[in-house]
Amino acid sequence: LYRSEHSAPTPWWQTEQAALLDVAAGRSPRYVYHADTIRERAQALRAISSVDRWFYAQKANDHASVLKLIAEAGLDIECVSPGELAQAQAAAPKAARLYTPNFASADELRAACTQATELSVDAVQALQFAPDAYAGRRILLRLDLGVGRGHHDKVRTGGARSKFGIALNDLPAALQAAQAAGAIVYGLHAHLGSGILDLGHFREVYAHLASLAERIPSVAVLNIGGGLGVPYWPDERPLDLAALAATLAEVKAAYPQFELWMEPGRFLVAEAGVLLTRVTQIKHKQGVQFVGVDAGMHVLARPALYEAYHGIWNLSKAGQPADTLVTVVGQICESGDVLGRDRRIAAPEVGDVLLLSHAGAYGAVMASQYNRRPAADEVML
Ligand code: LLP
Repeated sequence: LYRSEHSAPTPWWQTEQAALLDVAAGRSPRYVYHADTIRERAQALRAISSVDRWFYAQKANDHASVLKLIAEAGLDIECVSPGELAQAQAAAPKAARLYTPNFASADELRAACTQATELSVDAVQALQFAPDAYAGRRILLRLDLGVGRGHHDKVRTGGARSKFGIALNDLPAALQAAQAAGAIVYGLHAHLGSGILDLGHFREVYAHLASLAERIPSVAVLNIGGGLGVPYWPDERPLDLAALAATLAEVKAAYPQFELWMEPGRFLVAEAGVLLTRVTQIKHKQGVQFVGVDAGMHVLARPALYEAYHGIWNLSKAGQPADTLVTVVGQICESGDVLGRDRRIAAPEVGDVLLLSHAGAYGAVMASQYNRRPAADEVML
């Protein structure tokens, strides 16, 4: 009963098998994105009325067609580098751009002040070394609330070991530096990590920022960051958006004077993307069946970097039982080039197309040219 009550709807990649096989015939490896899923996600977020403004964290997937779709759905865009600002401006010129750089140079900050609509500053020095840039400008201050959250140590962006944000005991100095530069601190900002499935986190960040903001009369906006998780592992459950909406409404009612902003990336695109890759070789070695594919850590870095899990499915053998235990590996000269260990898929053959799910976020954007293997291209379905 529990299972049937909570069973997830059939994912789009299972209902679009034929279209995906067509796409895979053209070239491999290939990322494929599903426009309807991205639109649905954007609409579901926009229906949460307690959030006044949504910014899409472009770093998750900055393909022009993705940015365009998300902007059309009414979200603005969060950018972290001059390259992202330019890409957002080109693909979605009407969307506002919130700039949240880390360790930016003075020149970069000066340039950003003319290209970004909103600016979040995450260091006291950044207010001091480009004071000319800020005169009369409204800024947010990004704070480190002392704790990091998320699916892996490498994506937690708070606490003493993290390079992000202004420590709370430096907040008075930051306010002073902002005033000296003629900036108006109209917002506080915190993003403490990525891949968070616990709703309590978002409530806590809002309440913490609100308690700080009450003492700073110019603050009208609280940006509680991104971090909305999606279920990658088979035993993870999706975020309950209705519960998120209720949680945010409740905490906002306690501090109704602030505008609430959020800047998720992964939630909008992770499940909307798959990676298609072709089997190149199969090797049986000491009891392990290694299935080699033409993608690898240069195409999808997440498994090697974070021990991340992506579902693997033999698209060419859809309908056949997933009864063969395999380890799926790439062609890169590194032992860490493993896309999935000990997985069950339908008996693979050379030439089959394997599908890696949940690859729409932090997939193509994190590719490298390591070993001079070619990058995957990207297709919107
Ligand atoms: N805002 C800021 C300031 C961020 O640094 C990030 C992500 C986001 C928003 C969006 O977070 P999201 O909603 O996507 O969780 N490569 C890692 C994730 C790194 C996230 C970096 N910052 C991964 O593949 O899991």
